Amino acid sequence: MPSVLGGSHRCFQAVLLFLALTVLLLVGFLHRNVQLLMPLLGDPVQGLPVTNIMFLKTHKTASSTVLNILYRFVETHNLSAALPAGSNFQLGYPWLFVARYVEGAGPPRRFNVMCNHLRFNLPEVQKVMPEDTFYFSILRNPVSQLESSFIYYKNYVPAFRGVESLDAFLAAPGVYYNASKGMNNAYARNNMWFDFGFDSDAPAEESYVRARLADVERRFQLLLIAEHFDESMVLLRRRLRWQLDDVVSFRVNARSARTVTSLAPESRERAKRWCALDWRLYQHFNRSFWEQLHAELHPRALRREVALLRARRRELTALCLQDATPKNKTQITDRHLRPYQSGKAEILGYNLRPDLDNATLRTCQRLVMPELQYMAHLYSLQFPEKPPKDIRFLEE
Ligand SMILES: *[C@@H]1O[C@H](CO)[C@@H](O)[C@H](O)[C@H]1NC(C)=O
Ligand SMILES: *[C@@H]1O[C@H](CO)[C@@H](O)[C@H](O)[C@H]1NC(C)=O
Ligand SMILES: *[C@@H]1O[C@H](CO)[C@@H](O)[C@H](O)[C@H]1NC(C)=O
Ligand SMILES: *[C@@H]1O[C@H](CO)[C@@H](O)[C@H](O)[C@H]1NC(C)=O
Ligand SMILES: *[C@@H]1O[C@H](CO)[C@@H](O)[C@H](O)[C@H]1NC(C)=O
Repeated sequence: MPSVLGGSHRCFQAVLLFLALTVLLLVGFLHRNVQLLMPLLGDPVQGLPVTNIMFLKTHKTASSTVLNILYRFVETHNLSAALPAGSNFQLGYPWLFVARYVEGAGPPRRFNVMCNHLRFNLPEVQKVMPEDTFYFSILRNPVSQLESSFIYYKNYVPAFRGVESLDAFLAAPGVYYNASKGMNNAYARNNMWFDFGFDSDAPAEESYVRARLADVERRFQLLLIAEHFDESMVLLRRRLRWQLDDVVSFRVNARSARTVTSLAPESRERAKRWCALDWRLYQHFNRSFWEQLHAELHPRALRREVALLRARRRELTALCLQDATPKNKTQITDRHLRPYQSGKAEILGYNLRPDLDNATLRTCQRLVMPELQYMAHLYSLQFPEKPPKDIRFLEE
């Protein structure tokens, strides 16, 4: 009898061991696969997507890429956009925004998305946008922002016209910059501060700076950081409860490497002092950007989401583009996909694969469509009875 009992005991132990091993294996397997399945199942995106959005499009801050993301969302979700009225391409910039700069502005018309260049003016924006609008913007290191602005607006901005290089400008800005020489000088100093509607020539006094930063914080739910673009998209997507594909993009309106200049080290320090208000703005919101990101996502989860975004971008690159390298104007074969060129900047675009089926072609075209063409396209969809935007100059 004892031997029988002993035998069944051993048998029981063996079964237990087998079960334990199976459970261990399963846990291991599921753990790996839950991670793989996460984008399908445990998406951070729960609830209805946010569809009322105001994006303050700052200048030379990767904001054209964000614009492409918003335009695509507008088009694929049949939303309305607050577009520039008549033949205009901007919402009155550099003048302070007023509602009548918007085509078909109320009352009582309200739009879903507002994202073209404007100088922020909350009461007027609120005449056009609904109460529950999500406000966000993007900032870039003011030193690189100024470098980009100098190349792009070289012939347009009085302060830049008469000076050979940004190094020379920063060595003696007082010689070239005259605050009373009209608003186009806004591109030459504290341009982001100006875009938020503030005085870009104000002295950077502590109480003044703090009060304006608090204004921005009160109104804007999120400030993205251009230097951390992919992390920015991860955070934006969570806040808007959007799908991954909604925030995947190619870089649009970027310059060729040979039209990016490197500044002398002393110029970088001078730029921070010259654009002290922008520097404070950037430092403040770079800090809060990372605080928000870390409060919301474990660093490992953040890396995972950034990796997913990049993987999807690579997939779309392979699907859509002839090759991954951006092309200059003469290399872009489809004239409709040539981006607007400005100043000394060589603005790049893309060539699509020639063999795409119609549905894929439409998706890919939206991803690479330069902003003026895309705006003209949305305008015609939204206001078929109005004369279309005249963008023939883009194809010359
Ligand atoms: C948008 O409108 C088109 C045509 O009216 C329709 O086919 C499509 O399903 C709509 N899409 C969404 C997301 O509502
Ligand atoms: C700045 O511009 C104003 C208006 O054009 C002019 O009156 C003034 O003399 C200029 N200041 C300097 C220092 O050039
Ligand atoms: C922005 O914040 C990140 C993370 O804290 C930091 O590594 C980076 O140096 C900051 N950038 C600037 C220009 O201060
Ligand atoms: C475009 O790029 C090609 C190849 O790099 C170059 O030879 C050509 O000069 C560029 N065109 C313009 C207009 O810059
Ligand atoms: C694709 O689009 C072209 C041009 O718009 C059209 O002629 C053709 O019939 C479309 N093909 C299919 C399969 O829908």
